[in-house]
Amino acid sequence: MLVAPSILSADFGHLARDVEAICDAGCDLVHVDVMDGHFVPNLTIGPVVVEAVAKAASKPLDIHLMVENNSFFVDLFAPLEPEFISFHFEEEKHPHRLIQKIRSLGIRPAIVLNPQTLPEMLEFLLEDLDMVLLMSVNPGFGGQKFIPSVIEKAQRLKALIEKRNPHCLIEVDGGVNDVNVKELAAAGVDVVVAGSYVYKHPNGVEEAIRSLK
Ligand code: DX5
Ligand code: ZN
Repeated sequence: MLVAPSILSADFGHLARDVEAICDAGCDLVHVDVMDGHFVPNLTIGPVVVEAVAKAASKPLDIHLMVENNSFFVDLFAPLEPEFISFHFEEEKHPHRLIQKIRSLGIRPAIVLNPQTLPEMLEFLLEDLDMVLLMSVNPGFGGQKFIPSVIEKAQRLKALIEKRNPHCLIEVDGGVNDVNVKELAAAGVDVVVAGSYVYKHPNGVEEAIRSLK
C-alpha cells in the first residue's frame, strides 16, 4: 500500500518540520489539500505555502484540488512540478480537456469522485488517467468518519480499470486508519491518504505510516 499523508492535519506553525517528518518516516507521496472556500466550505493554502511544502518535501507532491476554477489552479501549481494533480469530476465541465492539459504540463492527471458519484462515469476517461481518487468523506475537512460504501465503489472501479487501463491507480481519501486500510487493500486500492491518523498517532508518524503499509 502506498501512503500519502495529508498535511491538512500538520501543525501549520511548524509546517516544514511536519513535512520533513512524514518524508523521513517513509511516506510515498505528500498529499496537499487545496480548498477555495467555494467548491468546499473551507479555505486552505495557495501557491506560496505549497512552494514551501515542496521545498521541505523529499517525496513527490500529490495535489488535491477542491476548487471551482480547476484550470486556473492547475496553472498556479504546475511550476511546483507535483507528481499528481487531481481535480473533482463534479466541478469540471470538460474533464477530458483538463486531463490533456495536466499531462501536457508533465504532471500525472487524476480525477476525484465525491461519495455520491458513480465510478462508471469515468469509464471513457480511464485510458487517459493515471489515478482515480475516491473520497471516503465529504471533502472539506480532516478528521471525519470513513464512509464504508467506498469499498464497494473501489471494487467496481477496479473492474473497470482492469478492462480499460490497468496502469491507473486507485487512491482513497478520508477517515482512513489501520483497520479500514485492510478492506481497502482487498478491494484493489493502491494509495491511501491519511491526515489525522498519521499526525495524531500516539506513537508518532513513523509508526502510523508503517501500520498503514
Ligand atoms: C478532506 C481532504 C483529506 C483530509 C483527510 O477534504 O481531502 O485529504 O485531509 O484527513 P483525514 O485522514 O483526517 O480524514
Ligand atoms: Zn485530500
